[in-house]
Amino acid sequence: MKYTTHIIKNMFLNFFKNHKHKIIKSSSLIPQEDSNLLFTNAGMNQFQNVFLGKIQYPFSQVVSIQKCLRTGGKHNDLNQVGYSPYHNTFFEMLGNFSFGSYFKKEAILYAWKLLTHQNWFNIPKEKLLVTVYYKDQESYNIWKDIIKLSKENIIQVKDKNNQKYESDNFWQMNETGPCGPCTEIFFKKKECKIYDLNNKKQCIEIWNIVFIQFNKINKNNLVPLKTASVDTGMGLERIASVLQNVHSNYKIDSMIKIKNYICKMHKLDAIKNNISINIITDHIRAAVCIIGDQILPSNDNRGYILRKIIRRALLHGNKLGIKKIFFYKLVSITIKSLKDFKEQLQQKKIYIENILKQEELQFIKTLKKGLALLRCYIKKLKNNQLDSKIIFSLYDTIGFPIDLTKNICYENNIQVNEKEIKNIILEHKKNQKNKNNNCKSIHTIHTNIKSKFTGYKNYKIITIVKKIFVNNEECQKISKNQYGIIITAKTPFFAESGGQIGDTGIIYNQKSFFKVNNTQNFINSIGHIGQLQSGMIQIHDIVTTKINLKKRILIKKNHTATHLLQASLQEELQYNIEQKGSFINEKYLRFDFSYPNIINIESIFNIENKINKKIQNNLIIQNKCCTFENAKNHGYKFLKNKYYPTNVRILTISNFSKEICKGTHVNRTGEIGIFKIISCKNISFGIKRIEAKTGTYAFKQIYEKYQIIENIQNTLHTDQNTIIPKIKKLQKNFLYLQKQNNILNQKIILVEKKKFMKKMINIKNIHFLFLQVEIQDSKLLKNIIDHIKKEITSGIIILFYKKNNKYIFIASITLNIKKIITAIQIINIIKKNINGYGGGKEELAECAGKYIHNIKNIIKNIQSQIISKIS
Ligand code: ALA
Repeated sequence: MKYTTHIIKNMFLNFFKNHKHKIIKSSSLIPQEDSNLLFTNAGMNQFQNVFLGKIQYPFSQVVSIQKCLRTGGKHNDLNQVGYSPYHNTFFEMLGNFSFGSYFKKEAILYAWKLLTHQNWFNIPKEKLLVTVYYKDQESYNIWKDIIKLSKENIIQVKDKNNQKYESDNFWQMNETGPCGPCTEIFFKKKECKIYDLNNKKQCIEIWNIVFIQFNKINKNNLVPLKTASVDTGMGLERIASVLQNVHSNYKIDSMIKIKNYICKMHKLDAIKNNISINIITDHIRAAVCIIGDQILPSNDNRGYILRKIIRRALLHGNKLGIKKIFFYKLVSITIKSLKDFKEQLQQKKIYIENILKQEELQFIKTLKKGLALLRCYIKKLKNNQLDSKIIFSLYDTIGFPIDLTKNICYENNIQVNEKEIKNIILEHKKNQKNKNNNCKSIHTIHTNIKSKFTGYKNYKIITIVKKIFVNNEECQKISKNQYGIIITAKTPFFAESGGQIGDTGIIYNQKSFFKVNNTQNFINSIGHIGQLQSGMIQIHDIVTTKINLKKRILIKKNHTATHLLQASLQEELQYNIEQKGSFINEKYLRFDFSYPNIINIESIFNIENKINKKIQNNLIIQNKCCTFENAKNHGYKFLKNKYYPTNVRILTISNFSKEICKGTHVNRTGEIGIFKIISCKNISFGIKRIEAKTGTYAFKQIYEKYQIIENIQNTLHTDQNTIIPKIKKLQKNFLYLQKQNNILNQKIILVEKKKFMKKMINIKNIHFLFLQVEIQDSKLLKNIIDHIKKEITSGIIILFYKKNNKYIFIASITLNIKKIITAIQIINIIKKNINGYGGGKEELAECAGKYIHNIKNIIKNIQSQIISKIS
């Protein structure tokens, strides 16, 4: 194949290298820059501060191939994946960038040459058409006069719904950040008189050239940038689909391997099951790369997106009839197909497989739990409709998919109110958004105010209100009950940074009271985020700002303890550990760091011991300011991926710990009281996480553990010296009894089997057994059924027993008669008769019914119904 993805990538890099571009590596899928992006969504992300003029980059022309994920925010392709042949969640973006070097003309000429020149991609010129922003006459003229495109092939694109800059030809990274007009190049898939740009059967966008000229600071505010730059992006998978002439991203060399593997492994018809297979193919690529970049499935943020992707793939697997866990088995082929990341991912293969396997097993559990709950709800139904709130709560509390609930309802002839469910979801989303907006993580305000932080020593000061924001809009005042952000000239509130949470507290004057729930940085301003509880606060008001000092004191203990922890880890593990993240609040501290080996319990004890000694020595914590260079040269620790200003604050604890840090700390280590590690675990490949507590919280932790041990001792009638041998002895006894029990069960099975088989009758060459039994153990009964089935060719076995005023029925068939009747059909007949609940599959099913009057008649009735069905 002439244009494999690998070759395309190399050609792209070489083309721009020949034109004096520096090749830059893809950054991680997790943005390192301070943006509110969950995942890297474009090649330009790693350069966003360069575009904004915040950082001077050593090169003015660069080229990269960036791993991207589009699953949220302004660029979300998740729902189109599978249904559209040209959308993916994970993809690679080929991009060239100019930081104030070349601009429109050169950018367009480069793109045109690479696409059409015979030595490069050699696409016939007449197969291309372009779009430009309707106000960008300059680009229009370049296409017309220099490239010599005919007018029909240059489409001017307006704003949508007359909303300024809301256009496909005005590119924005996110709700805020670098943006500008763009010109896009499309490949014509067939000849049309007029092209509908959204019709992917007619044409497909392959390259976007953005002219970064603005910084969007909020919905209505675009600030022109001092330097105009170029940011381009061409999806590798799309250009490959054009150059390989396959008309779908899912058919290019790198993807088709995964698709074929799935089809072969599960004997699937690729055409019939195209959508589900595409979704699984896309999602395994995304899942492997996200986990490869250190994210684990969880219930919030990035982990939640990952979980959503995995679960969606699993549900499609389910839809395809894949019965066993399968998703993790695709890791190997996926890593092979992602050729350029192969080396890096190969090292993590087993780790990624394990994570996916665990997640899949966990999801199966969720499904089981959800199904059981759903059955209970269905059983209790008074009418024929399931309450939408129940459907949503199943999803919200245990993650049971709404679509699945709906399907099960439809199968059971139960109605659901689709519209009502939709509304509940919308309402929930709105609440979540409000909650987020009201508390934290809004970075959509912009001010030039420089707040002065006075909170290292002062906890309460009088100052002047400089800015007020309500709903991200600048206002003159904030009124009672409104949520918003207040910015003052000075403040004792520490804004969240370096892992330390933002302070809480109050802002007040004689007539008004504002409760601060969180404090965040907005470039140079410190924003107090919260709600006005009484009165009204206006710009220029004089107010008192006062932090919650009790909480701050606890946070300080944990922050200093984090520094002691890092130094102790270094000393104990004798390894150059690198900080990978931290979180410090009033209750505990969390420290993530790179370390490839196991940390045993002795090491943990040694680390705690070292730290507690430093606490007992009551060391002084010194801080001062110096230049970043100076700090670095003197061995002060800092984070590699973080941007530091010229002047930094350095923190020294005796000759034990040296770090660059602007957080708040105790004056002497003795103030920490005590230090206790509460957990140490692996969170991703080569990354460990330690969680610890200090002071009263640590004491409480120790005390609670101590109480548990006391409790166990009392229950087992032992003491500290004999508790372990006693537990070991109990374990041994238990294993012995289990073994004995198994032996006995085997004997019972043989005896009971014989007894049961004697009761079997033959109807039309089918062995039929319908029997009430003494054994009250479903597992054992199923085992007996299996043994019976080994001795007959065709048969139906129905066993039932009474336990706690309930009748439990187990039905099983040999699969060769499933056309006549299945186990689940039998159970459905029984269920109806006994008003019971239960379910199962073709081969085996079971159900239970509450105390049943007149059971004899009911059973006769069931028996004759089933017999009439097989006759
Ligand atoms: N940043 C531009 C895009 O992602 C090139 O389309």
